[in-house]
Amino acid sequence: MKKIYIETFGCAMNHKDSENILAELKGEYSQIEDSSSADLIIINTCSVRERPVHKLFSELGGLKKRAKDGVKIGVAGCTASHLGKDIIKRAPYVDFVLGARNISKIKEVVNKKGAVEIDIGFDDSLYSFGKGEVSNFRKLINISIGCDKKCTFCIVPHTRGTELSIPLNLILDEVKKGVENGAKEFLLLGQNVNNYGRRFSSEHQKIDFTKLLREVSKIDGVERIRFTSPHPLHMDDEFISEFASNPKIAKSIHIPAQSGSTKLLKEMKRGYTKEWFLNRIEKVRNSVKDVSISTDIIVGFPNETDEDFAETMDILEKARFEQLFSFKYSPRPLTEAENFENQVSDEVASERLKKLQSRHLEILEEIAETRLGKIYDVFFDDKRDDCLIGRNSEGLIIKIKGNSEFLGTTQKVIITESNRTLAKGQIFIKTD
Ligand code: 5AD
Ligand code: SF4
Repeated sequence: MKKIYIETFGCAMNHKDSENILAELKGEYSQIEDSSSADLIIINTCSVRERPVHKLFSELGGLKKRAKDGVKIGVAGCTASHLGKDIIKRAPYVDFVLGARNISKIKEVVNKKGAVEIDIGFDDSLYSFGKGEVSNFRKLINISIGCDKKCTFCIVPHTRGTELSIPLNLILDEVKKGVENGAKEFLLLGQNVNNYGRRFSSEHQKIDFTKLLREVSKIDGVERIRFTSPHPLHMDDEFISEFASNPKIAKSIHIPAQSGSTKLLKEMKRGYTKEWFLNRIEKVRNSVKDVSISTDIIVGFPNETDEDFAETMDILEKARFEQLFSFKYSPRPLTEAENFENQVSDEVASERLKKLQSRHLEILEEIAETRLGKIYDVFFDDKRDDCLIGRNSEGLIIKIKGNSEFLGTTQKVIITESNRTLAKGQIFIKTD
């Protein structure tokens, strides 16, 4: 058996693509963690910000230097889609380039020196990938590919193409296969999950994301369902009510704000206002006790004034996100905003990012304190040293000492220590 080393950057989608690559090559290659003895090295790249793209070439150079003679090297993912054959021009030892929309062609390109497959119009929404591994009882399931939004900062529509939903029967088959292989938690993936059902590549019954959630939750053996990412614009009341009432849906949700300024949201073409965003947050918080909400925020978008940034600080205060992913705006090729005037200086953007992040850390401290003494249902999916590690429905990581017999089960845990990112506790035993 030959050996494959794969390195993955970027989002959950990319991790799923890497899993699919491994599944497709399973009979021929087994995965290893040491690149220097690999017969095949693949870097699965992200292009959402400029830094990972720069990193690609230095990473490639390093891997090539340490690799054994005769190694094959492939570049996959979003930067592959975006730079195509220029990757081989710049790094001639690269054997093939496989775009994020072309993962199902892995078996073809792997034996074709110089292959470049980056067609973003390619349709692999009907393709059934080989059986992937289930790790830590969790299975990632693609529900759509591509993205139809035209957010002016985002390169993804140009690397993953237009949006296509994956047919319901294929999704349910994948979930059932996952259950058979020991998965209990399912993470439904798409660039814009709650747009599910808008377009299929072939005739399909009418369906939307809320109905899909119901169908997945009906499958025996599915214990927890998570999904990422929904778009705030498509978060209707029916969806929020399903999210709140379906006991299999984990009570953590990623709702990417991007900015708190309605003016900037318009320039970003997000399709909603600050008020709509806060209204959705309020509705979710009021419908789901102890829900955990995460978000993405970009600072330093072109034209962002101090007043606009104050609006972003204001949504942080009001929404009190349990998790924040925050970024300095990075101009990306092929996007509209790249050509906007009034780009914000790096210095100002850094200052704003620091301010946002440090206020968020304070909020997290406040939230952490409120968890002491609370009792949660924790699903234990990992074991390290003498500890079991699990998550509650809200996604909080919780550690307990010993009790390894609880691995793969859900237990009631009382929180005894809590900080910003982690809580410790003990199995809760009712004494009355
Ligand atoms: N600059 C900075 N952050 C970006 N993101 C997407 N494009 C850019 C960009 N050009 C962020 C958004 C998105 C997350 C995945 O990455 O916040 O939600
Ligand atoms: Fe994922 Fe977007 Fe990065 Fe592509 S560009 S890997 S879709 S985050």
